[in-house]
Amino acid sequence: MEVNKVYLGDCIKIMKELPANSVDLVFADPPFNIGIKYDKYNDNLSYDEYYKWSENWIAETYRILKKDGSIYIAIGDEFAAEINIILKRIGFYFRNWIVWYYTFGQNQRKKFNRAHTHILYFTKDKEKFKFNGDAIRIPSARQLVYNDRRANPQGKIPDDVWEFSRVCGTFKERLGEHPCQMPEALLERIIKTSSDIGDIVLDPFGGTGTTAMVAKKLKRQYITIEISENYYEVIVKRLNGRIEEIKRTSKTKHRHQKTLFNF
Ligand SMILES: C[S@@+](CC[C@H](N)C(=O)[O-])C[C@H]1O[C@@H](n2cnc3c(N)ncnc32)[C@H](O)[C@@H]1O
Repeated sequence: MEVNKVYLGDCIKIMKELPANSVDLVFADPPFNIGIKYDKYNDNLSYDEYYKWSENWIAETYRILKKDGSIYIAIGDEFAAEINIILKRIGFYFRNWIVWYYTFGQNQRKKFNRAHTHILYFTKDKEKFKFNGDAIRIPSARQLVYNDRRANPQGKIPDDVWEFSRVCGTFKERLGEHPCQMPEALLERIIKTSSDIGDIVLDPFGGTGTTAMVAKKLKRQYITIEISENYYEVIVKRLNGRIEEIKRTSKTKHRHQKTLFNF
């Protein structure tokens, strides 16, 4: 199996070619089926089509994950319940239903502003899996607020509500070529928690390549799949450090387009 590679094509087809029990961690941020305009993918499937498609790609991740592997799936309100059920039916074990609370949710006129995405965290085995708690400790309220002598000086393992800003249009991190770039800090927490140096991290829905980029920075190996040629090129350039070039040549302007954070 070739690692440290970006694959161009359909993730189900490509995952079918990967050997069973070969990957340590899967992070997936699939299209949420809410009508986002991507280059190539139609984000407006019928309920049944989307459900069946989700079953198919999640089943492939199960096959290729190692026995002690973990999976995290980012998903919106509309299909979080369904993805949770699919993961269980396929045989994964539930660990956490994480809520990513993002500052800078976009203002809505006729409903409350949406300011979260779900991240469903499951493992392939009920008891044997990696969880590097010490690698992701953060300062606790006992340390910061209460000055409590019982506080662990190393900090605490984060709660299941995670606060990270989304990558807004004006942010330095923003590449400009994609409607839903994830923050590197969020991937950093996931990759540090559930993999070790040298492990293989797979992202079937590459987008701008955030997962691969962070995996590379953290000395993990990566496999990333993306169906759009345009986004594929962005990932390759990003991994090669050609960030300014991506920003300069960005063809798609998302300012007026419906994004994950504005619908
Ligand atoms: C929500 S975005 C991922 C964004 C990514 N997490 C990031 O930080 O940039 C989903 C991506 O999946 C891609 N995609 C959709 N269907 C696919 C498929 N069948 N195989 C591979 N990629 C696909 C879309 O083109 C889109 O770029």
